[in-house]
Amino acid sequence: MDAPAITPPLWLLAELTYRCPLHCVFCYNPVDYVRCRDELTLEQWCDVMRQARELGAAQLGFSGGEPLLRDDLEQLVAEGRRLGFYTNLITSGIGLTEARLGALRDAGLDHIQLSFQDSTREMNDFLTSTRTFDLKSKVARLIKQFDYPMVLNVVLHRYNLDHVERIIEMALAMGAEYLELANTQYYGWGLLNRAQLMPTREQVEKAEAVVNRCRERIGNRMRILFVVPDYFEDKPKACMSGWGSVFLAVSADGAALPCHAARSIPGMVFPDVRSQGLREIWYDSAAFNRFRGDAWMQEPCRTCPDKDKDYGGCRCQALALAGDAASADPVCEKSPAHGVVQHVVKLAQRRDPDAGQPLIFRSDAESRRLLAEG
Ligand code: FES
Repeated sequence: MDAPAITPPLWLLAELTYRCPLHCVFCYNPVDYVRCRDELTLEQWCDVMRQARELGAAQLGFSGGEPLLRDDLEQLVAEGRRLGFYTNLITSGIGLTEARLGALRDAGLDHIQLSFQDSTREMNDFLTSTRTFDLKSKVARLIKQFDYPMVLNVVLHRYNLDHVERIIEMALAMGAEYLELANTQYYGWGLLNRAQLMPTREQVEKAEAVVNRCRERIGNRMRILFVVPDYFEDKPKACMSGWGSVFLAVSADGAALPCHAARSIPGMVFPDVRSQGLREIWYDSAAFNRFRGDAWMQEPCRTCPDKDKDYGGCRCQALALAGDAASADPVCEKSPAHGVVQHVVKLAQRRDPDAGQPLIFRSDAESRRLLAEG
């Protein structure tokens, strides 16, 4: 793996805006997102999409923040489709009116992923600090009405893992074809709230057993994906299928990123799509080449037989937990910092869920405060 052949990106994730009407406590956007107010224009996004398609990318995701806050989303979708992308909208549903959904369908939108935060109005609205459960339910009905396959995404954590069965029933009742139950990834606001969100091992095991039982009962009517929180594993995930391997994200303000959390790594300069072409960024930039291959690896990754499978795990998690983005992901039992992960999990076992620091809800004011604190 020393001198890897660089393959073209498959995915372009267009993080159209960091603006969002919700205030989710587990949001993976950077906590200092208020810095990024200078959003790419329609023309600049169209240019990025064209270049990504020329590079070979075939999947295009529109995310945010909330991508529906862009008034030109329909035009972006139409252009993405014209270029030959398979277009995905990743949305909270807020702002998805019947008229807008009709316009997006006419623009050629292929796929919608709608997020819910829980099966109950109370918890959904609490975790987002908004009253959005009823709106989301309405959007779910609209999506069915427009004949889109219904793909629901629910982020799981200490507050809703015990509701998994009800979440599955809710998704079934809504006619979902696909339910993604993704345990919180601890980046951005999720990392900030980790002590509050981290579930107990019993919660995770019980939820997984419930999911398996439901899968048997439901069969092909609805596919359920359950992503176990990696803190409870002893092997790291192959994050992004490897740095600079298949995934290319472009942030609202034009930074090209090998993953959505990459900006948390200090000392790295991520190229700006306004001043550099995507081909040069993908193949030649220092940022995209930084963790390709294995020359950057330290022990135990360097001589690990699994390094071609897991690429040493997640660079952003290595930074967050071990203080060094080039070290082994501490989720790995071979990492010298694995004790940090075990400690976090152990604390979650002991902690009284109602004690401890309060949740920090994502908001511009909090982001400004965190930015000022550095
Ligand atoms: Fe950045 Fe895993 S999220 S490498």
